[in-house]
Amino acid sequence: MQTRVALVTGGTGAIGRVICQQLVEAGFRVAANCYPGDAEAAAAWVDEEAREGRPIHLEPFDVADFETTAAGVRNIETAIGPIDVLINAAGITRDSRLVKMSPEQWNSVVHTNLDSVFNVTRAVLPGMLERNYGRVVNISSVNGQRGQFGQANYSAAKAGVHGFTMAVARETARKGVTINTVSPGYIESPLIMAVPEPVRESIRESIPAGRFGQPGEIARAVQFLVDDQAGYITGADLSVNGGYHMG
Ligand code: CAA
Repeated sequence: MQTRVALVTGGTGAIGRVICQQLVEAGFRVAANCYPGDAEAAAAWVDEEAREGRPIHLEPFDVADFETTAAGVRNIETAIGPIDVLINAAGITRDSRLVKMSPEQWNSVVHTNLDSVFNVTRAVLPGMLERNYGRVVNISSVNGQRGQFGQANYSAAKAGVHGFTMAVARETARKGVTINTVSPGYIESPLIMAVPEPVRESIRESIPAGRFGQPGEIARAVQFLVDDQAGYITGADLSVNGGYHMG
């Protein structure tokens, strides 16, 4: 297999990090994007990975902004080559009941979780189509599939992500480019630690698997979809949620 180049947005977050590690270990050349405000901590993590024998190119840019995203993608392609694989994993929460939700809470979540998927895919896809090869995986959420109390912003953005996946899958299927969604359930990460403890505990109890998921269990699903051999899977939504939501 030729060496493929992968970009992971939110690549220094809890799930993104493990996706990067698994891709490097599988032989990909990997770029991790992070929010510019997180660049210092992200650089320390990338140094640590390099010491462990996992080289990762770090490219901080705000995926919510169209122009800086286009520039960031150009920098990555100059540094490590044309992007064959894109994992849109950048995401935030700003939970609140709708009646208390501010426009800032709504906008920041929609910009970071949904507009970003347009911004990054729009920058990367033309090259994939030209080269007749590409794998895009969008990280959505079980809460985009079922809705969650306190997450009108997040659930709307994450449901939108899979609508995007299905539409673009139709546009790219004949050109060797697949695009799929992975919908994680509750995964051990800072996002679920932001949920008040009693609410978090009652969610854990309602998960048939009886536990939260691990970031590596999401990375494994991503790995499956970005394989060269996965060319006939497109427009799919792969749930990885311990049975929390089915259908
Ligand atoms: N279902 C039903 N009622 C609920 C509820 C729930 N899940 N959560 C809170 N309530 C009720 C309370 O019982 C209370 O009712 P009363 O007023 O009648 O006593 C009322 O709502 C409290 O409302 P407040 O707005 O004052 O609530 P709050 O400030 O205490 O917290 C919240 C509200 C922040 C939305 C909180 O409920 C919460 O964090 N919920 C969970 C959100 C969640 O699951 N986020 C997922 C984060 S992880 C992630 O997003 C990753 C992923 O992809 C899965």
